[in-house]
This record gives sequence, C-alpha cells and structure tokens, in this order.
Amino acid sequence: MQTILVTGGAGFIGSNFIRHILAIRPEWRVVNLDALTYAGNAANLADLEADRQKRYRFVHGDINDSERVGRLLAEEQPVGVVHFAAESHVDRSIHGPLAFVQTNVTGTARLLMACQQMWEEAGRPAAFRFLHVSTDEVYGSLGPTGHFTEETAYDPSSPYSASKAASDHLVRAWHRTYGFPAIVTNCSNNYGPYQFPEKLIPLMILNIIEEKELPVYGDGRNVRDWLYVIDHCEALATVLEKGCPGETYNIGGGAERANIDVVQQLCALLDECLGRSGASRSERLIRFVTDRPGHDRRYAIDAGKIGRELGWRPRFQFETALAETVAWYLAHRQWIDFVRSGEYLRWIDTHYGATGGTAKR
Ligand code: NAD
Ligand code: DAU
Repeated sequence: MQTILVTGGAGFIGSNFIRHILAIRPEWRVVNLDALTYAGNAANLADLEADRQKRYRFVHGDINDSERVGRLLAEEQPVGVVHFAAESHVDRSIHGPLAFVQTNVTGTARLLMACQQMWEEAGRPAAFRFLHVSTDEVYGSLGPTGHFTEETAYDPSSPYSASKAASDHLVRAWHRTYGFPAIVTNCSNNYGPYQFPEKLIPLMILNIIEEKELPVYGDGRNVRDWLYVIDHCEALATVLEKGCPGETYNIGGGAERANIDVVQQLCALLDECLGRSGASRSERLIRFVTDRPGHDRRYAIDAGKIGRELGWRPRFQFETALAETVAWYLAHRQWIDFVRSGEYLRWIDTHYGATGGTAKR
C-alpha cells in the first residue's frame, strides 16, 4: 500500500480525484488534508471513511499550518502530493483578494517547504512527485484565434489567476533551485458532480430548476474550453505516474463554447427533464448583467504535449457529459440543500470538531 497526500480533496475536483484514484489504484491509500472552507465539503467523501481497509483518511487542517503539515508528512511519508487546495473563484477574488494570496501563494510556499524537508530527510527518493494543480487562467485572455501552449507567457487578469500564477512560479523555482521533483498542470474549466453552485454551470442548473434569473455577464460571448472533471482526474493520474519533474502539462477538453450557448443548452436540457415548454421555457430567465471586471474573453488549450508525451486524451464528449451533470444535480437535491444551507458547516463542527483534527470515529 502506498500513500499519497491530497490537499483540498474536499472540494470539487479533489473529491472527484480521490474517488477516482481509489477506484483505479486498489494498492493506493489517500490522505486528504483540507481546511474545509465554504467550498470544502467533507461529507462528499464521508462514506470512504467507513472503508474497512482504511484506504482513506481525512485530516482537517490548513496548508498554512506548517507544524501540522510537517507532522502529517512525517507520519504518513507519502510517495506523492497532489496539491488542489486553493481559493478558486474569480468573482470572490475580486471582492477579497487577500485570502487568495494567503492560501494560493503563501500556503503553496509553506507546503513546498514542508514537502521538501520530508523529501530531503527521506534521502531524496527518486520516485517522489509533487503535482501542482493549476489553471489556464494564468495565461490571460486569447483573441478569436490561437491556443495556450506550455510556452505561452503568463499574463493573469484577476487576483485569482495572479495568485495561481505566483504559485506556479514558486513550484518551478523549487524544482530549479532545490531539484525538488515538482510538476505543474494548467487546466481549463471543469464541470461535473460536486461543483459548488457559485460557478457558471451548477449555478445555472440550480437557478433554472428554481426558476430564478440566469445572470449572464456582458454579452455572453466569452468563451471557455470545457473539460469533464473525470477527464481531468484521469489526466492528473497520468501526470502523477508518468510525468517528468520540472515539466508543465496543459490539460483541456477541446470543447470551446460561448457562455450564452452553454446557458441555452442547460435551459433546453432542463426543460426536457422538467417538462417545460412554450411560455414557460427557461430561456425567459436569461438576463444580461454587468460584466465581470477584467473578464477574460477567451480560453483555449492546446493539449498536444500531454497527448504526445503521456498518451492522455479526453474521453467525454461535452454534450453527453453536460447532460449527465444535469442528471446528477437533479438526483442530488439533498446535497444541494446541504451545501447551500450552511448545514454542512454545522456538520463539520459536530463530525470533526470545531478545532479540527482527524475525523471522529
Ligand atoms: P474548490 O474551491 O471546489 O475546492 C478547493 C478546496 O481547497 C476546498 O475543499 C477548500 O476547503 C480547500 N482549501 C482552501 N483553502 C485551503 C487551505 N488554506 N488549506 C487546506 N485546504 C484549503 O476548487 P476546485 O474547483 O476543486 O479546484 C481545485 C484546484 O484546481 C484549484 O487549485 C484550482 O485553482 C484548480 N483548477 C480548477 C479548475 C476548475 O474549473 N474548477 C480548473 C483548473 C484548475
Ligand atoms: O479556466 C479554469 C478556471 O475556470 C479555474 O481556474 C477556476 O477555478 C474556475 O472557477 C473557472 O473560472 P471561470 O471564471 O472561468 O469560471 P466561472 O464558472 O466563474 O465562470 C465561467 C464563465 O461564465 C466566465 O466567463 C464568467 C461567466 N459567468 C459566471 C458566473 C458565475 C457568468 O456569465 N455568469 C455567472 O453568474
């Protein structure tokens, strides 16, 4: 049994990744270190804690808590770290940028220091990997043509993307300066189960169900390159096992869509499920609202390198996986009520204790 440490594993992509990796690698154990911010929901993975083989351990903690992280690393001696923990929402970063610097920049630096120390003390094991999960937003905005490659210059627009860019630089500096075996991935927009309903796709699904207005920023023609979360998880597992230290890999779905087209598609999918037609069609709820400041116009990933060098390609088609995502949200109304009500914050206190620590058994 070999252990990997996942940070931020109670969030959207992290929780999908943990389920995925435990399913495809029966010989792996996962330790999930998560501070359980508003975006983290330990209940997403609570069923795994009952696993009799104890292949999953949840630890409530902050990546900025170097002492806690150092103790955990010494105790667990992971063969790899997959670093998801971050403040991840662009709109929140516009209103409160410092939390993004604190977690994404300072937190990543502290985590790197702790991991490097463990790696040095273990005699620099050749197989160890630190995988930093980053975003295509570090590259800034594209015009109507072209794609981001791994050589595209960084040009972040929001406090979120600037903080992720800074963290990418730190990770690369750790490789160049200390020979630390770190890898960076930069991925496009994900969608799928367990995404917190403040991001475009889950927000629109929920608003359509509840017949609330659908706020589309600006003219709705901003383009995102959508990737189903399971495709991202498969790419990360591939990079963890086959990626080369010091390298960067772009990950994308090859599914560019304008926001307004995605929203209209969601309206059509849900109208079919909910039996809405004629004057009650959900498109009536669309409202064009004031644009996001510094709103990047278009993202598009060239994922050629990871395909050529590591053999990864996305498997899911956008239209099919979007319909599955809609079906997941319709079937998980309790999850939605739970994350929206603040009930899950109370659950953290009763289940994990207000002061944090490993889950009560
Ligand atoms: P998320 O906001 O859903 O989850 C983030 C998780 O990190 C939460 O569980 C939160 O509790 C935890 N966390 C936050 N601060 C922490 C801290 N100081 N210490 C420990 N844990 C902390 O985010 P996500 O959408 O799952 O994104 C995960 C990672 O992937 C992020 O680094 C993000 O930048 C990157 N990414 C996201 C996307 C996307 O479309 N969502 C695309 C590309 C890259
Ligand atoms: O590109 C990868 C990034 O994708 C990740 O690094 C981020 O963590 C993730 O949040 C996501 O960032 P975006 O800003 O692209 O995602 P969001 O879902 O917030 O917005 C997607 C697009 O939809 C964007 O152009 C803004 C627009 N939008 C969003 C919301 C929430 C709207 O038009 N209305 C909305 O209400």
